[in-house]
Amino acid sequence: MNHLIAPSILSADFANLQRDVEMINNSQADWFHVDIMDGMFVPNISFGFPVVKAAKQYATKPLDVHLMIVNPDRYLKDFAEAGADSITVHYEACPHLHRTIQAIKQLGCRAGVAINPATPTALLKDIIADVDLVLVMSVNPGFGGQKFIEHTYTKVAEVKAMSANTNPNLYIEVDGGVGSQNIAKLIEVGANVFVAGNSVFSAADQPAAIAELKRS
Ligand code: DX5
Ligand code: ZN
Repeated sequence: MNHLIAPSILSADFANLQRDVEMINNSQADWFHVDIMDGMFVPNISFGFPVVKAAKQYATKPLDVHLMIVNPDRYLKDFAEAGADSITVHYEACPHLHRTIQAIKQLGCRAGVAINPATPTALLKDIIADVDLVLVMSVNPGFGGQKFIEHTYTKVAEVKAMSANTNPNLYIEVDGGVGSQNIAKLIEVGANVFVAGNSVFSAADQPAAIAELKRS
């Protein structure tokens, strides 16, 4: 699989959201990464349904919604209706993860599970065949612009090995501190979807920054 780039609209200029969505539409990016934070699961609040719907109105590429919220089951249907194409929930927020994953699929969305930096990949063993996507957090979730945690390479390789037989088409996504300095090595160990917030939106030429990640 060729790797995919998912710019994170958390780093966009919300006063010019249409402009930034159109920049991504016209770039080589593949998905929009949409970070939902509730101030409970993570120590920050991002945005909710009105902003997701506003982005969906202009986006011509899939919305990859990352729920950093407690009790995500309560809101799956609302996010699907707001325009999510994939919904990723956190392992740490789901006591009945298998049920949650089935519920996401029944809504017609790709289903993903995310793990925090301190959560071992081994805990995914009994769910990995059922998900479309595993998101390996490479920073502690809550904020854009943080430093990439080096141990992520090992975790990606573990997810790749774990899924090789049971789920060879799995999307293995890395989120946090991704840029041109680490993407090649992440591809080498098996990742195939890359979230990029700061490395895209802080660039003087944003489409060029996306193209550089795509070329890696
Ligand atoms: C972090 C979010 C990320 C964030 C990535 O909690 O899940 O998606 O937007 O931003 P950068 O690429 O700036 O680390
Ligand atoms: Zn994210």
